[in-house]
Amino acid sequence: MKTEANPIRGPLNAWGLRALEGVFERTLGAQKRRLFIDLPDEVVELGSGPGSNMRYLRAGTRLTAVEPNPAMHDLLRASAAEHGVGLTLLAHGAEGIPLPDASTDAVICTLVLCTVSDPTAALAEVRRILRPGGQFLFIEHVAADPTTHPSLARSQRILRRPWRWVFEGCELHRDTASLITEAGFDSTDIHSGTARPAILPIAPMVWGRAVR
Ligand SMILES: C[S@@+](CC[C@H](N)C(=O)[O-])C[C@H]1O[C@@H](n2cnc3c(N)ncnc32)[C@H](O)[C@@H]1O
Repeated sequence: MKTEANPIRGPLNAWGLRALEGVFERTLGAQKRRLFIDLPDEVVELGSGPGSNMRYLRAGTRLTAVEPNPAMHDLLRASAAEHGVGLTLLAHGAEGIPLPDASTDAVICTLVLCTVSDPTAALAEVRRILRPGGQFLFIEHVAADPTTHPSLARSQRILRRPWRWVFEGCELHRDTASLITEAGFDSTDIHSGTARPAILPIAPMVWGRAVR
């Protein structure tokens, strides 16, 4: 399934994500290094953005990037070249990945399931393209728990609509852990916590792996 990016917000988001790479490195870099440590030589990534995760891949990795926003593509190519990553670019949404069944051992995604319009369909696609034993590795921001983090939950509630408009459909209120748990993987290992230093509305995070 091909999706259209907004002609103004698409490039703005590409520029903004590139500008925030240092912040995401400070916030999530250590976690990403731990999570991605044993990736195989061939990896599929959902929503690669401007290539923020290239720095965590071994040089020589062959990456298939599923990235529907064309404004990201030149940045992605440049980042792949800089980090010695072989890039195949698929300008599609994760809800319809043009790859065969059981064709990869690893799918990664960071801060993407908040934005895909049908995360259940995207997770079904991840499961479909993974070989048995293959892994889905993710870090996603999620809805704050109002009992433990009432002010975060309130800020998410207040910002929800403008945030979704500015960030091309990004939802602050998704229960992504439940979506992954219910996606039919053989096993899941999901952790949750609050990112520090935080970009507040997206501070509540889940991360981990699901095995096909
Ligand atoms: C917040 S950015 C995250 C980018 C990058 N993964 C990172 O961690 O910096 C969300 C990305 O998901 C992409 N995206 C939006 N809808 C998508 C979809 N349906 N399928 C795959 N990617 C999508 C956006 O274009 C954007 O690059």
